[in-house]
Amino acid sequence: MAYETLIVETRDHVGLVKLNRPEALNALNQKLLGELICALRKFDEDDAIRCIVLTGSEKAFAAGADIKEMSEKSYVEVFREDLFTAFHDDFLRIRKPIVAAVAGYALGGGCELAMMCDFIIAGDNARFGQPEINLGVIPGIGGTQRLTRFVGKSKAMDMNLTGRFMDAAEAERSGLVSRVVPADKLLDEALSVAAKIAEKPLLAAIAAKEAVNRAYETTLAEGVRHERRLFHALFATEDQAEGMAAFLEKRAPQFRGR
Ligand code: CAA
Repeated sequence: MAYETLIVETRDHVGLVKLNRPEALNALNQKLLGELICALRKFDEDDAIRCIVLTGSEKAFAAGADIKEMSEKSYVEVFREDLFTAFHDDFLRIRKPIVAAVAGYALGGGCELAMMCDFIIAGDNARFGQPEINLGVIPGIGGTQRLTRFVGKSKAMDMNLTGRFMDAAEAERSGLVSRVVPADKLLDEALSVAAKIAEKPLLAAIAAKEAVNRAYETTLAEGVRHERRLFHALFATEDQAEGMAAFLEKRAPQFRGR
């Protein structure tokens, strides 16, 4: 399917989605958000795909929600259409792992989108920020909540109140990103990480994603109980039998995603 605002490709078992509105630094308008959910759902349903990479351009992952589009809306309109709620909830329903490969600006909704992915690999030119305060608003796709969980209250307050940007080194130091790589190698690195994930047993990867995300939504005791149920459930899969047998037989496992 042809998209107006995305470039979508597959590399073996990895689905690649590139945000593609270069004229607006990949600002997230309604068209892009709709197409993004559509592309992610297609990969989620495609048995050949086992991991997804979401990226932008070398200049911008995404410079935020589309300010031009938003500026024309009234309170009644954003409230009635429940702006960003469907996108947020639909994105979180994607079960396969999503790696964000972030180069350049990841601001406002762009930073929020990166944080909704399962982890972030940053190019050394990446700049993260929640500058919504400069527009007379605050983040609207989870930025005050997720950034606080990633980097702690002090830095999250600093970023949300001053609107300052965080560079890649600070983002790695603060736990916002898992690794920093040279910007010109970012996509290759992210695809190679995703290819490694794609080699893993898919049901275990889905369970790992679900269990880690649970840590943000529940108590430690409930989270551990949930993890243990998923752990037990994986003993019903062929890949568990294969993974353990392969270890004992000192051979490479052949996972089939069942
Ligand atoms: N929405 C719409 N258009 C945007 C945009 C955005 N968020 N960010 C950049 N653009 C457009 C610019 O208007 C410009 O278009 P024109 O050439 O037609 O004028 C084009 O992209 C290039 O941008 P700049 O000329 O500004 O590029 P720059 O290199 O000088 O600056 C920047 C880059 C610092 C990222 C600057 O563009 C900027 O500050 N952008 C806005 C960042 C922002 O405030 N993001 C938060 C949005 S609100 C939000 O996201 C709410 C939420 O939580 C859901």
